[in-house]
Amino acid sequence: MNILSTNNLTKYYGAEPLQVKAIDGVTLEIEKGSFTAIVGTSGSGKSTLLHLLGGLDIPTSGSVCVDGQELSGLGKNELAVFRRRKIGFIFQNYNLMPNLTVYDNIVLPVELDGRNVDKEYLNSIATTLGLEDKLNRKPNKLSGGQQQRVAIARALVAKPALILADEPTGNLDSHTTQEVIGLLQTTSKKYHQTIVMITHNDEIAQSADRTIRIEDGRIVGSRW
Ligand SMILES: Nc1ncnc2c1ncn2[C@@H]1O[C@H](COP(=O)(O)OP(=O)(O)OP(=O)(O)O)[C@@H](O)[C@H]1O
Ligand SMILES: [Mg+2]
Repeated sequence: MNILSTNNLTKYYGAEPLQVKAIDGVTLEIEKGSFTAIVGTSGSGKSTLLHLLGGLDIPTSGSVCVDGQELSGLGKNELAVFRRRKIGFIFQNYNLMPNLTVYDNIVLPVELDGRNVDKEYLNSIATTLGLEDKLNRKPNKLSGGQQQRVAIARALVAKPALILADEPTGNLDSHTTQEVIGLLQTTSKKYHQTIVMITHNDEIAQSADRTIRIEDGRIVGSRW
């Protein structure tokens, strides 16, 4: 079953003759529970594509469908609510709230949404990610790898249809990178969580179930 699909998606910046075709006719389907890596050189359109998939940016043309919902069919506020419920984001710089504990950071999106936290699920995730003894700490008392694990836990706890990660290991050393990628792989399988991750590192991409390569805003290859 597909949890995400796009049809002839484009995102153009500016006007001819200086127009940049950041995304130029992307049609793809992402299977529920799969772990997909998007690879490509700098400027190839990876972040633009991820922002379009997550409804953080509006396409020039074409469509994005997440969990059966066409994003273009939602108004601005509806889209914000949809994003909060259905999509988890993991960024390179973790984006944790410095004055909240690890626990409060992890449950924040669920509480903002007025939902109850599934404590059992949270405990399972914290154990899987090795955070069970760090829940009362502040983020600045953690290493970069640990902070990124908190961001992963925060994304998972909300049980989103889709997790989108933009270079989640971009600030980590190679050892910690392996660890964090391994945890993404584990959580994807264990919780049947769909993850789409950008990386410019081919070795990292090997850990995913599938790799989609983009160049100049177009898909130029796909490996299962
Ligand atoms: N807001 C914008 N206005 C104009 N051009 C933009 C804008 N955002 C991105 N672009 C252009 O679109 C293209 C794709 O950018 P994008 O950020 O998606 O690349 P990327 O693959 O994520 O690169 P990197 O690996 O460096 O993060 C680039 O040519 C970039 O200059
Ligand atoms: Mg980018």
